[in-house]
Amino acid sequence: MKLERAATLDAWADLVTGLLVQRLQRTPTLRMCLPTGLTPVPIYDRLSAAVARRDASLEHATIFLLDEFGGVAPSDPGRCDNMLRRGLLDRLAVPPAQFHRFDLTGDVLQECAAYEAAVGDGCDITLLGIGSNGHIGMNEPGSSPDSATRRVSLAAATVTASARYFNREHDLPTWGVTMGVGTILRSREIWLLATGPGKAAIVGQTLRGAITPDVPASLLRSHGNTILFTDEAAAALA
Ligand code: F6R
Repeated sequence: MKLERAATLDAWADLVTGLLVQRLQRTPTLRMCLPTGLTPVPIYDRLSAAVARRDASLEHATIFLLDEFGGVAPSDPGRCDNMLRRGLLDRLAVPPAQFHRFDLTGDVLQECAAYEAAVGDGCDITLLGIGSNGHIGMNEPGSSPDSATRRVSLAAATVTASARYFNREHDLPTWGVTMGVGTILRSREIWLLATGPGKAAIVGQTLRGAITPDVPASLLRSHGNTILFTDEAAAALA
């Protein structure tokens, strides 16, 4: 896993967005897996601006949403699909057929199998945030390196942390669906994103600790083309 550290949050977002714009310029049909959460927000802001300037286009790209919360209303603003729409897709007019997300109103097992099939031999590029327990997507500690897209239970800390997306402390989702670690590892490129002092400990563990399902992000070290992008604060223990 290669480490790219930027001096500030702004420099970090400029760096990652600049590289993403290059990828889109080179491959307009790029198949991307995108996360939600707070970490990628500055990147999505800059990518939206780059598209507005016509430096890049997502018109022909395909986007796979990394994961989704279960048991919440389709209109809930905390759902991952709604967060990504708000933060990026609505600003870029991505054709709906090119946005893959999870429909959890029917058979969840079937939906996960269809998602896994749609991802096929993997995305061109997968962007990921990291949880303070090392989760990637909703692959919590204990996730197998060959896990597929599936229904998962959320760790207690993940449920608590999701309050910031849902703007409430109660009735938070306790399960979700996520691309598996195996699904992610099929991606040609993986970019792990971490910013702020709160991520310093897990970044250190991911880079220097054992490669183990107990720290799902560490499993990315077995992939030959993974870059961990951090700002200085998140790299303090790297
Ligand atoms: C979001 C996701 C999660 C987050 C992680 C970090 O789609 O899959 O794994 O990336 O929980 O969240 P933030 O970025 O809010 O610190």
